[in-house]
Amino acid sequence: MISILTSVPSDAIDTLDWHAATFIASGCSGVVYEVLPGVVAKVSPRIAPSEAGIQVLLAQEGLALPVVTYAQGVWLPLAIRRAACSPHGVRRWSGSHCTCQQAADVLLMPKASRICTDDELEDNDELTVLAERVGPVCWSTAHHLWDCHAGNIAVYQSRYVALDFGDVSGTMRF
Ligand SMILES: Nc1ncnc2c1ncn2[C@@H]1O[C@H](COP(=O)(O)OP(=O)(O)OP(=O)(O)O)[C@@H](O)[C@H]1O
Ligand SMILES: [Mg+2]
Ligand SMILES: [Zn+2]
Repeated sequence: MISILTSVPSDAIDTLDWHAATFIASGCSGVVYEVLPGVVAKVSPRIAPSEAGIQVLLAQEGLALPVVTYAQGVWLPLAIRRAACSPHGVRRWSGSHCTCQQAADVLLMPKASRICTDDELEDNDELTVLAERVGPVCWSTAHHLWDCHAGNIAVYQSRYVALDFGDVSGTMRF
């Protein structure tokens, strides 16, 4: 599904200059780098095809950022492999095993204009509608739960969009 719906072949990821990537942020499961002007890569030991697939579907509805491309098992420079490692890196989850010597999964997408703040979540009808539309797509497509917190909402082209569709059960395993 993903290869049909994204225009850039996944081997484009191999042509990126990963040594020039700029760290942007980290979450529990992944680390995010700007790899080209306006293009970011989410890097994680595990980004399931279902996470990328949900994002492709939501992007068609204007509810998520488009997936530029997605690839599994990409061999990255040590600094990025280490950053994405739970015990040794900068992820906000420290309960998993070392993945410093593993190839990573990579999801490329546009860089958002900004990330939502906690204050914006209060009494925000637009965000209520976004959550009501995103949650059912995640569940019906792959039985994923969308973790609706400010860090998983971005502004892109002056609209709110959802980020991060990898949450299966709330329990991290890698
Ligand atoms: N396209 C993007 N543009 C700009 N910043 C981004 C983008 N995607 C992610 N980020 C930043 O990176 C952070 C982590 O990304 P993401 O939420 O996908 O990772 P995660 O590890 O699954 O997070 P979580 O802790 O919610 O499980 C986001 O909270 C956001 O600050
Ligand atoms: Mg997140
Ligand atoms: Zn490690």
